[in-house]
Parts: sequence; structure tokens; C-alpha cells
Amino acid sequence: METTSDKEIAGRRISELRGDLHAHNHLYYNKNQPVISDKAFDLLLKELEALELAYPEFNDPLSPTMRPGGIAQDGFDKAKHSTPMLSLSNTYDAHEVEEWMSRVDKGLEGEDVVYVMELKYDGVAISLVYEKGRLMKAITRGDGETGEDITANVKTIRTIPLLMQQPAPENLEIRGEIFYPFEDFKALNELREEEGEAQFANPRNTAAGSLKLLDSKEVAKRKLDCMMYGVISKGVSDTHSEAVSSAGDWGFKVPSEKLKMISTSTDSKGVMAFISYWDIARHELPFAIDGVVIKVDRYDQQEILGLTSKSPRWAISFKFETERVRTQLKKITFQVGRTGAVTPVANLEPVLLGGTTVKRASLHNADQIERLGLRSNDYVFVEKGGEIIPKVVGVDESARAVAVDLFTQSESVFPTHCLECGTALIREEGEVVHYCPNAASCPPQVKGRIKHFISRKAMNIDGLGSETVTQLVEAGLVIDPGSLYTLTSEDLLPLDRMAEKSVQKLLLGIEASKHIPFERVLFGLGIRYVGETVAKKLARSLESLDAIMNTNREDLIEVDEIGERIADSILAFFAEESNKSFIHRLKDAGLQFAVQEVEGATDKLAGAAVVVSGVFEKHDRTGIKKLIEQHGGKVSSSISKKTSYIVAGEKMGPSKREKAEKLGVPIISEEEFLDKISG
Ligand code: IVH
Repeated sequence: METTSDKEIAGRRISELRGDLHAHNHLYYNKNQPVISDKAFDLLLKELEALELAYPEFNDPLSPTMRPGGIAQDGFDKAKHSTPMLSLSNTYDAHEVEEWMSRVDKGLEGEDVVYVMELKYDGVAISLVYEKGRLMKAITRGDGETGEDITANVKTIRTIPLLMQQPAPENLEIRGEIFYPFEDFKALNELREEEGEAQFANPRNTAAGSLKLLDSKEVAKRKLDCMMYGVISKGVSDTHSEAVSSAGDWGFKVPSEKLKMISTSTDSKGVMAFISYWDIARHELPFAIDGVVIKVDRYDQQEILGLTSKSPRWAISFKFETERVRTQLKKITFQVGRTGAVTPVANLEPVLLGGTTVKRASLHNADQIERLGLRSNDYVFVEKGGEIIPKVVGVDESARAVAVDLFTQSESVFPTHCLECGTALIREEGEVVHYCPNAASCPPQVKGRIKHFISRKAMNIDGLGSETVTQLVEAGLVIDPGSLYTLTSEDLLPLDRMAEKSVQKLLLGIEASKHIPFERVLFGLGIRYVGETVAKKLARSLESLDAIMNTNREDLIEVDEIGERIADSILAFFAEESNKSFIHRLKDAGLQFAVQEVEGATDKLAGAAVVVSGVFEKHDRTGIKKLIEQHGGKVSSSISKKTSYIVAGEKMGPSKREKAEKLGVPIISEEEFLDKISG
């Protein structure tokens, strides 16, 4: 029989592990100063998972094991705010900030005033309610009085503590801004592109959309972040700046003083200096801001100043002008992607914007063109705001000549037929994107699929670049990935820039790709919504292409990560005759169509994210990467704070070294790496 003391010991260990993991999480995500390795963290997490499984009586929805999200919800409950979530009065004019400061002075009858300056984060406001140090509720702004309870989703954000670090006040309400960092936003779009999905336009809207997803597991995959900007509870400190600094100790992400993201001043000179500094420096930040916020630091003075009907008198925001330029629209072209999605692109008279020359801007889709009322030769306004890609935000109608207007009216309308192959475009109900359905022979789709097939993460064929693919397709030598494997040197030699040596390299590269593991072949096929991760899951659970092709819808949905939409896309792909035909030829060519047990595979590097850089003695770079994967590690291409270590050979670039040192990522030699995986 189990004794009480066993249970007691387990209970104690569980709470100890939870406390430690919460603290490590804070050190890693908010302080950027991990004190244990990722592997050690994973071991603690695994120990906790095992104990929680064995002793479900200690279950806690705020355990560090609960970050990956729970079961999907039907909708969100309404929740009332303890105190209204107000907005700020805005200005674009520095003089008005000085006028506001004079009003503050007057309101406080000449008392000394300290102003605190912060960034105005461009995201989604959130209110976080803690009881006994535990996150109880996360509520959106809503109408300011009542918002939606999105706690399940917010719990997945690692920079928000589930349990505050001690010593913290028992009950507390924190307000902050949830946003999508640029780098993660870019990665999300890259992943979507890989999966053949439409791109998201900007980080703010994507953050807002992510928070409204009903399945918190999906939210956990979005790398949202949160910066706190307010402590609502009274009595924790006398000033806002102290409260922010304490919040940093309690486990929240707070603006860095060192990076001048928060500062104080007693006069307008200091305030103006902060504004001018960030007007330039904002371009270097890893996330979007749209201005700075200036607040009266002392709470008692804030109280004296009070509120107007919708915003406090003790704060003002100075908004930066989004950089906007005027230029001429030369023409609208329509790009057809590998999945047939048609994206309109504005081709512009080149113009300088935010330090770079802009020649093209995204128009997203037909609705957007319609909203703008765009016509050829229009003068347009282009902005680069929170977005990474510049966009056309308006038309200078005053510059539009009537004659031009009439003459070009029909030109700007979205085409009814694919400009590449003439097939009638389709737009499915409820979708904003037009598609060219001629997957089999629309040239950009054919080229796109082959480029995807040979790409680094798929077949990684050496000696075959994007330009060569274009040449091969245009010469009629390649119509699908299958035809790559029947190419001969006689086919290739007559092509431009193809000498004996490059032909040999290309043919060897194609030959070598026959050893690429099945999961990457599967990813390379370019099935819509089947990105790298889904391909891995599919390959590992069904083990061969035959099995995948013979599995019905219900059984496909049973596979982890695969829902109805992906299952339908897989079924549609294999139902298509032209796909069956090239897959057949790939099989004949001898590609890997089933998983193979790798000899000598271990999980010694499980959980490790490793960057490989430089030239090595015993192995080539690909060999080192293979070893990492063979031992359960993950190869990543760029250094971030999530990198476990870098295996560095000779000639590792100085910028990489610098970045690694800055982030405190360990650098190990080939020798040390081989030691890790041997024995
Ligand atoms: S203070 C009553 N500080 O801007 C004032 N707000 O227009 C409470 N925001 O809804 C807000 N950065 O979502 C404050 N450093 C900052 C902020 C900030 C962004 C957002 C916030 C608020 C909106 C106000």
C-alpha cells in the first residue's frame, strides 16, 4: 500500500519543481540569463510531468507543464474590468507635449514633477489578474469596461508569469501589451509560405488574431510576447517607475533601463530627448512601437490630476509619423505562387523609404485593390509601418488626370484569367485569395513546385539553383520533380551557363538526393498545408507513402497535428492524376518512400538546437548536420537565445561569433561535439 509519506514527498517535490521551473522560465525569457542548460530544464520538466501523472491529486492548471495549451474552447466568456481600461490622449506634435506638461504643472500647483517616459508598444492591451501570486484571469480591453476572458491563450505566453516570483504582493492587477516580435512574425510567415498558406500582413493584427484562436494549442505555436506597462493595484509603491522595476522582480517582462526603453526626467528637455532618440532608434527594435508614452511618475500626483471622460490627465502619448512617401504606380503585376495563389504586386517608380529604395509593394488581394480604387499610373502613398513589407495605403486622387482615369479604368481590375497560362481563376467562397487551378501546367506553379522540391529543407539538391530550374522548365526538359531523375548530360550541356563541370555537379547532386530521408521527400512533394513539421509527423506515424496514400480521412485525422483541412488537402493531392504520375516516377528513380531505421541513432542530443558554422576537419558541414539529426538534435540556421550551442570549425564568421558571445551561446569545437555523441 502507498503510504501517506510517499505522497507527501511527491507533493513537496512537485511544488519545488514548479517553483524552480517558473524561476528558470523567467530567467530565460525575461532576463535573458539562463542559469541552467535547456537540457537540464527539460529534465526537470520531464520529472515534473512524470510526478503529475502519478499523483493527479496535485494537478494545477498553472503548472509549468501547462504552457503548451489545453483543449479547444467554443468561445470566450465576458469579464468585467476592476477599473476601466482607458485610452491615452495622442499627439503628433512635440509642442503639444510641452503644453501638456504645463497643464500638469498648473494642476499640481507648482509641485516638483518627475515624468517617466516609456515606449508605446504596438500590440493588444491585456489585463492580468493575480490572486495569491497566481494568474487567475487575462482579459482583453474590449470596450474598456468589459472584455473577453482569454486566460487559456495568454497562459501560453512565456514572458507572462503563471506564478509570480516571490516576494510579490498577494493580489495584483497588471496591464501590458501583447505583441508579435518581428523575427517570430517573419518565421511564422515563412512557415505559412512553406505550407502554401496566405501570408499575414502585419504583426499587430496577427497578434490580435492569434489571441482570438479558440484552440490554445495553436496559440502556443505563435511566438507572442508581452511587455507590462502598468500596475493597477494600489499601495505597492509610490511611483510608476518603482512599480515597473518591481514587476521585473515579480517575473514580468519590463522595459530595459540599460537600453533606455524607460527613463525619467523633470523637464521638457529630457522628455524631448527621449522622443528624438526613439524616433530614430525604433527602427532597430525587435518589435513595433508607434510612439512613446509620457506619464507623471508619482501616484499621488496622478490621483490629483485625475481623468477626463476617457483618458487620464497624467499621461499623454506622442505618436511617431509612419514614414509615408508618394510615388507613381507603374503597373500592377500578378504573381502566381506554387500553390496557384495569385498575389497582386504594385510596381512603383523607385522611391526612398525608411532608408531603403522601394520598387514594389504588396497589394495583398483583390479586395485591397478595390478598397484603394487603384488605377494604372496613379500617384500612391506608400508606408512602411509595423509591416516589414511596404504597402500602398492610398491614392493621391488630386493628381489623377480625368483622361488617364477613363483610359485605364479597366486595366487595374483583377484579371479573370491567369496571366501566365490563361486558365480562368477561381475564388472560393469566403476566401480572399484568387487561385489558378491549372496546377499541372501553369509555368510559375510548375517552377514553384520544383523549386520547393529541391529546396534546402526538402531534397537540398547541390548544384541546382532557382535560375537553372527556370531554364530547365522553359526548355521543356522538366515538367515535375519526377523528370529531374531522367536528366542526362546530353540534355544539360546545350543549356546556357552549363559546362561539363556544372553538369557533373548537378547530376551528382540529383543522384545523392536519393538518400534523403522519407520525411523530407514527403515535405518536398509540396502538398498544401504539409510543412516540415506535419511531414515529419505523418512520416513517423504512417511510415511509408503507400500507407499514407491508402489511409482514409478518419485515420489521417487521428495523426497528431492533422486536422480536417490538412487531411482533405492530402486526399486531394493524391487523387490528382498528374501527382500520381510523377510520384510513380520518383519511386522508380529510387527515392526514399518509407522511413528507414538509421543505424547508430540515439537521442543524446534530444531537445538541443544546434547551429553549425565554419569548415571542419573530420566531417563536412552536411556530415555534422546529419550527425546532429541522427542523435535527435535539431539543426538551426541562425543563432538566437534558443540556440543550445554552436559547433564551430575554422573560418566561423566574426559576426556569428559576436552574436553568440552577446547571447551567451556556448561555442564548441568539432572534437568536443564528437565527444558528446560518442560512447
Ligand atoms: S498606459 C490609461 N503605457 O496604448 C493609460 N499604454 O491608447 C493606460 N500602450 O490601451 C495605458 N504602450 O494598450 C500605456 N507604455 C504604455 C503603452 C500603452 C502601449 C497602449 C495600451 C492602451 C493604449 C492607450
